[in-house]
Amino acid sequence: MKRPILIHPDPRLKKTAPAITDLSDDLRALADDMLETMYAAPGIGLAAPQVGVDTRLIVMDCIKEDGAAPRPMAMFNPEIIAQSDDLNIYDEGCLSIPDIYAEVERPAEVTVRWIDPTGTERQQDFDGLWATCVQHEIDHLNGILFIDYLKPLKRQLITRKMVKLKKDRAREKA
Ligand code: NI
Repeated sequence: MKRPILIHPDPRLKKTAPAITDLSDDLRALADDMLETMYAAPGIGLAAPQVGVDTRLIVMDCIKEDGAAPRPMAMFNPEIIAQSDDLNIYDEGCLSIPDIYAEVERPAEVTVRWIDPTGTERQQDFDGLWATCVQHEIDHLNGILFIDYLKPLKRQLITRKMVKLKKDRAREKA
């Protein structure tokens, strides 16, 4: 089931989500819903707070080549346990900040540990777009948006645009 995506600014996007202590079927179903929502958007990553659920779950699939098999990943309690000194710049976007893109610099490689949907602890190194995406999504679990890395003036400008977008959407619905 697709779920509505919260648009910035929203206090639910600025919270630190609590860790998952019990991997329930409800949480597995949430992961499925989030993947469906992400693919439909379309996007390459989504974090639970973006669908209004205050928990440490992210999903992603950064396979971009046409015709390539999808590689959906769902990560419960993801944690960055190592990062490279090398940095990488990507033009980032976010499903909670539609149609806005800006360059963000992050570690080029990260090692992430997480619990997969079967309850197994996993660990993997990520680079390229995957590294940027997993860092962006884990940021969401800590109430951090990619625009928080931009200069205050630019961030304010984007926030004002989003406030207007939300007003326009609310008016269309009315
Ligand atoms: Ni995002």
